[in-house]
Amino acid sequence: MQSKFSLSLSACILIIMTTLAGADNYSNSELKKATAARHSQMQMIAYHTGLLSEMAKGSTAYNADLATAAAENLATVASMKRITLWLIGSEQGAIAKSRAKSEIWSDSIGFEKTALAFEAASNAMIIAAGKNVDTLRTAMSSIGKSCQSCHESYRGPKN
Ligand code: HEC
Repeated sequence: MQSKFSLSLSACILIIMTTLAGADNYSNSELKKATAARHSQMQMIAYHTGLLSEMAKGSTAYNADLATAAAENLATVASMKRITLWLIGSEQGAIAKSRAKSEIWSDSIGFEKTALAFEAASNAMIIAAGKNVDTLRTAMSSIGKSCQSCHESYRGPKN
């Protein structure tokens, strides 16, 4: 009786452990693909921020339609669901080319907050970018701060 009970108990524990591990047990190829995909996301973010920043600096002529489109694309890319991109196990050191700090997962609440602040700044840019170059410039500074604050906390040194 006693041994039957402990046998089923250990079976239970084994099932729970396998389920938990299974949830986060991505293959190397999955982790590499997710890392490449979030790099593409960052490239899209950098491209659209670049368009806006050139106009803010005056190195390209201000164009309300182009600025609005750039801000809309930026906000769309910024709001991509993070669960498919930031896979646990894809941190710097574990996956080639990754510069994602392990704090993204150990401090997931902080990372989520930083990402949401960036989403908010990108959304605010949509109206600001279409108004005039001064409102664009002001909104640009909170976008820049968002990039910087997230990179400082969650992006590791160059590989
Ligand atoms: C919520 C956090 C967060 C925000 C906000 C953020 N980044 Fe990043 N960014 C990262 C992390 C983390 C990495 C490293 C990812 C990796 O290597 O896996 C990264 C990587 C990058 C890269 C390198 C991509 C590559 O191909 O290797 C660029 C460029 C970049 N970010 C630009 C920006 C710009 C510009 C902004 C703001 C307009 C921004 N990021 C906002 C977290 C963020």
